[in-house]
Amino acid sequence: MSIYRQDVETLDEGTDGRILTAAERREDSENEGNLRPQTLGEYIGQEKVKEHMAVYIEAARQRGEALDHVLLYGPPGLGKTTLSGIIAHEMGVEFRVTSGPAIEKPGDLAALLTNLEAGDILFVDEIHRLSRAVEEVLYPAMEDYALDIMIGKGPSARSIRIDLPRFTLIGATTRAGQLSAPLRDRFGVVMRLEMYTPEELSTIVRRSAGILKIDCEPEGAYEIARRARGTPRIANRLLKRVRDFAQVLGDGKITASLAGTALNRLDIDPLGLDDVDRRMLKMIIGNYAGGPVGLETLAAAIGEEAVTLEDVYEPYLMQIGFLARTPRGRCVTPQAYAHLGLRPPQAAPDDSQQRLEV
Ligand code: ADE
Repeated sequence: MSIYRQDVETLDEGTDGRILTAAERREDSENEGNLRPQTLGEYIGQEKVKEHMAVYIEAARQRGEALDHVLLYGPPGLGKTTLSGIIAHEMGVEFRVTSGPAIEKPGDLAALLTNLEAGDILFVDEIHRLSRAVEEVLYPAMEDYALDIMIGKGPSARSIRIDLPRFTLIGATTRAGQLSAPLRDRFGVVMRLEMYTPEELSTIVRRSAGILKIDCEPEGAYEIARRARGTPRIANRLLKRVRDFAQVLGDGKITASLAGTALNRLDIDPLGLDDVDRRMLKMIIGNYAGGPVGLETLAAAIGEEAVTLEDVYEPYLMQIGFLARTPRGRCVTPQAYAHLGLRPPQAAPDDSQQRLEV
C-alpha cells in the first residue's frame, strides 16, 4: 500500500488558477506522488530538520517505541506532507493522512484514532483549523493514549475511557501562532521548515526532470529555481509548464534562455514575482506612500483575502526583503522600489528607523 494513502479528500484550496500559488492544485497531486522523495537521503534541503529527525527516528527505532508527536510549521509548499511521509517510511509504519477541516466532529477523530495500530503516524494537515471540541478529544489521546467518551445524556451520562495504541501525531500548519497553547505544548518535537535556496531548488528541479524524463540543462533548472519563490511545489509546477514551451517553441530541451522566455510569457519575473505580488507592492507604494498599511486594508484594496496575503504572498516578499511587517502595518522596502524601477521617497531618518522595526 502506498504510504501516501489519502484517507480524506484533498483540500479544495489552490483552485485559484495562479501558477505561483503555493497551495496544492490538482495537477500537483497527480504528479507530486512520483516526484516525492521517499527517504531522508533523497530529500533535498532543510538540513537541520533532517539531521534532527534522523536522530529522533533512530532513537525511537532502537527503543522500539513510537516517535514523539511532531509539529511542522512554515509557509505552504515546503514539503511538510512529504517529510511526514518520509518519517513514516523510515519508521516502517503506516501513514494516515487527514486535515483539520476534515475532522468535523469528535466522533470523526475517534474513528481515525481507534483504527490506528501501534507506532502508526496520523498526519493532520492544517491542524490549526481543528475545532475546540475536537481538540479536547485530542489532548488525552496525545498525552495518555486514551479516548474519553461520554455515554448518555443528563444525570445518567458517564464517561468511559478507551485505550489507544501508542501512535504518533504529526501536525502541519502554516500558522503556528494560531495553535492553542495546550495543543502546541503536547508536541515533543516542533520544527519550522524554511524556504529553499535557489541552489537547493535547482537540485530539486534537476531531480524532478530526471524522473519525468525532461531534457533540462543545469542552467535551465537554475532559471526555473530562482523564479520559484523558495518553494519546491512551485518549482515542480513551473518545470512542467516550461517543458510545454520547450516542446512547442524549441526542440524540447530546457535551456536557460528557453526557461527565461517561457517564464516571462507567464508573467513571472526574474525574482519569481507575479502580477499579484506586483499589484500588492504597487498598491502600497501608489496609494499608501510605501506604507505602513494594515493587512485588511491592503487585502480589500487588491481584492484578495487577508489570510491568503499573509500565508501565501507575504512570506516570500519578506524573505527577499521587499516587504516589512511593522507594528503599524506593512511597508515596502527600498529594494522593492528598485526592483519595480521606482525611486523610494526620502524618509526622515527617525521615521525610517521606526518603519523598519519588526
Ligand atoms: N520534491 C519536492 N520537495 C522535495 C525535496 N525537498 N527534496 C527532493 N525532492 C522534492
